[in-house]
Amino acid sequence: MTATQVQLKYEVKDLSLAPLGKQRIEWAGREMPVLRQIRDRFAQEKPFAGIRLVACCHVTTETANLALALKAGGADAVLIASNPLSTQDDVAAYLVAEHGISVYAYKGEDNATYHRHVQIALDHRPNIIIDDGSDVVATLIQERPHQIADLIGTTEETTTGIVRLRAMFKDGVLTFPAVNVNDADTKHFFDNRYGTGQSTLDGIIRATNILLAGKNVVVAGYGWCGKGTALRARGMGANVIVTEIDPVRAIEAVMDGFRVMPMDLAAAEGDLFITVTGNKHVIRGEHFEAMKDGAIVCNSGHFDIEIDLKALGTLASDVAAVRPFTQEYRLKSGKSVVVLGEGRLINLAAAEGHPSAVMDMSFANQALACEYLVKNKGNLEPGLHSVPVEVDRAIALLKLQAMGIAIDTLTPAQIEYINSWTSGT
Ligand code: ADE
Repeated sequence: MTATQVQLKYEVKDLSLAPLGKQRIEWAGREMPVLRQIRDRFAQEKPFAGIRLVACCHVTTETANLALALKAGGADAVLIASNPLSTQDDVAAYLVAEHGISVYAYKGEDNATYHRHVQIALDHRPNIIIDDGSDVVATLIQERPHQIADLIGTTEETTTGIVRLRAMFKDGVLTFPAVNVNDADTKHFFDNRYGTGQSTLDGIIRATNILLAGKNVVVAGYGWCGKGTALRARGMGANVIVTEIDPVRAIEAVMDGFRVMPMDLAAAEGDLFITVTGNKHVIRGEHFEAMKDGAIVCNSGHFDIEIDLKALGTLASDVAAVRPFTQEYRLKSGKSVVVLGEGRLINLAAAEGHPSAVMDMSFANQALACEYLVKNKGNLEPGLHSVPVEVDRAIALLKLQAMGIAIDTLTPAQIEYINSWTSGT
């Protein structure tokens, strides 16, 4: 049941789940030492005093640690879910009950509720928006342009959101600064690759309990998320096939040792299909028709558009839930296709998203990007900005320190050498 109490400003499933949320958030926090240090500094310096902040993120134990860091820094924060299936209800309950953070999110909310929560978040008149997929920013621009004057800037978490922000800039509607957190080295090298790689397989296994060894696993897309997914599937003994539209990435996949072919051919070979392209209808009607009986399809890209479920629906005579997050479409042809997590991000629908150790760096970037926006209020051009390279490197160094790993430093002679062009062979 949802509890709606406007005066207390939240909408979560069940506040009595808060003690479990506390335990799990603290557990995640053990793997997030970089964010912890930032939180401690924010508590002293209060960089967000007087700042209204909206975060549209997956409401997980890791996001809770980010929210607590922002709150420690003085932010007046509202948190909403960036996906209808990704909310961890105990986490949402704890943030409301123990920290008075306005959370509007519950697992399984429908699309109408999701969009209503975006509107509630915008009612907060944010100065800073942390977005994951760019829905809040897109809604602000399209429906509430008068509120842009309140905004210092936004930060974006994911590749899909960055693609949308670039399109907004091209169309001349991105009239405020947006920090590209996704492309920080300490974000995408780890979160997109190792985070998606591990958590996608985790979601598939939790949903199905299938053995991956010996299976033909088709990974659609060989960006950082696809690379991580293919790598980890191979690590579990799967025969991995990659599909791509980018010739350079396709060569990369070949040289990384994977078979590469178009989906038209892969469709008949795969036992399990994982889409991570960021584009729509990567698996379509003709592909479902070519699949083996019992083939499993799922998505780990940001939006639920990669698998054409409408086309699958028209091929099917019946759809049955066979396990949680697992639906079997029985086709008129007599075969069946199994869809996981309704085609939504399987790592967050059926599992818990990326592990805390990688989200530590992603959310350290988010926290510091917000601080950067506030410190540079009025001085940043509209459009996309990288996370400053010093910030990226500082996060990497803090992470190494926390892992107890020391690295070399350049000697004075080496510094001189790499800064001069006169000495060659
Ligand atoms: N995106 C992917 N995994 C996540 C997690 N654990 N928390 C928040 N956002 C995520």
